[in-house]
Amino acid sequence: MNVAVVGAGYVGLITAAGLAEIGHRVICVDDDTRKVEVLISGRLPLYEPILEDLVKRNRQAKRLEFVSRIEDAVEKCPVIFICVGTPSLEDGETDLSSVEGVARKIAECARGYHLVVEKSTVPVQTGRRLQKYFKSRLQCEVASNPEFLSEGSGVEDFFHPDRIVVGVDSEKAAGLLKEIYQPVIQQSFACPVHASCGKRAEAPFIVTDVNSAELIKHASNSFLAMKISFINMIADLCEAVGADVEKVAEAVGMDKRIGDRFLKPGVGFGGSCFPKDLQAFVRIGRKAGCDFGLLREVEKINHQRIDLFVKKIKRELGEVSGKRIGVWGLAFKPGTDDVRTSPSLAVIRELVAEGALIRAYDPEAIEKARAELPGIEYGRDAYAVAENAEALLALTEWEDFQHLDLAKVRQVMARPLVIDGRNMFSPARMAEHGFEYVGIGRGVTGHLPVPGPKNA
Ligand code: UGA
Repeated sequence: MNVAVVGAGYVGLITAAGLAEIGHRVICVDDDTRKVEVLISGRLPLYEPILEDLVKRNRQAKRLEFVSRIEDAVEKCPVIFICVGTPSLEDGETDLSSVEGVARKIAECARGYHLVVEKSTVPVQTGRRLQKYFKSRLQCEVASNPEFLSEGSGVEDFFHPDRIVVGVDSEKAAGLLKEIYQPVIQQSFACPVHASCGKRAEAPFIVTDVNSAELIKHASNSFLAMKISFINMIADLCEAVGADVEKVAEAVGMDKRIGDRFLKPGVGFGGSCFPKDLQAFVRIGRKAGCDFGLLREVEKINHQRIDLFVKKIKRELGEVSGKRIGVWGLAFKPGTDDVRTSPSLAVIRELVAEGALIRAYDPEAIEKARAELPGIEYGRDAYAVAENAEALLALTEWEDFQHLDLAKVRQVMARPLVIDGRNMFSPARMAEHGFEYVGIGRGVTGHLPVPGPKNA
């Protein structure tokens, strides 16, 4: 099928390349002509594992092309996915201006039936509003197909989704979307992610109304954020009473009703999705007369992570002013160069404000971090930032950091102190190498008084 994907950002590019890989002819549109030039020259404007090869292969096979004029795509494609950004406005509500701008342009150049599919994360009832707008003009139908692509594993998430959700108003729309996703539903493609993928179970294809599909997305992200804040709250208790949150999370997560994923404690969640989606969902609830106090608490716990971590650093170092501190990791999580709302950058900002001398390293995110934080030093590798440092902060759990020569790291540091904001190292291994090691919720930093025997 001829399919248009509007927006060549993270979601748009994976969607466009993924749909091309399963056999569709995809035209990916972005009005940022510079970005389109980069893509046409064979490079990617972002880092995402596997994506570059996927884009290259499908362009060579003439199943994927990049254009900057939406008209060139709309006239050839009955189905148009909207994958543009939906950032937060200052008051936390969702800025829908890009989505609405795209809808306007589609309306200007559409002739006959088109299925306009929102993939961007939007507040519930956005589809309904868009539908009203189109109805008064032409035969466009609006559907919702939220994305569940996680940065760093987005290509894998496209090909092996836990579920595909489509919110539609007609059987025709459901049928078109089912046809588009059929190879993914049946898992009947040559897997570009795993060399020997093996036969997988069919991916569930959930058909619902448009409002419910929009809501599923916000509910999913909020639930995951809630799990993270929950375990971070438990980590604080572990630290206060002398327990090990890693063991607690492991055992709690073994309960199949709870599940072990998204129970990693640390400096909190960041990125372009959870913080913004939580804010938006709280406001959506409020507007609808529902009190989402639970989610406000999730946000609050997450904000406190940064302060608590900086306090921990100061507890170990005293004043940080004039002290050299190394940082491992800048991206908001491993596997990406994205630094949007990165907890690492938030920690660095606080320390810089107090006069600390920061030298940071990340395998992928230095360029993007430099644009946000031009005033700090960047090291050429993980060892360079350890040199003469009085402390090293581990803030993004890149696999590379697990394979460092710890003896070498220790040797070059002024003081062998590692403060691990992601619990990526084993305390025993760090002790073996002679480090002073502080993690999250795993040290015994202050016991509650142990009750003595009765009547003693
Ligand atoms: C998230 C969702 O996981 C995707 O399903 C969704 O499609 C996407 O948002 C989106 O809305 O577009 P993403 O933001 O790429 O994906 O990253 P996550 O893997 O969810 O991680 C978010 C943050 O939570 C990161 O800062 C990560 O370090 C942190 N995190 C995650 C924890 O602190 N603990 C955990 O156990 C898991």
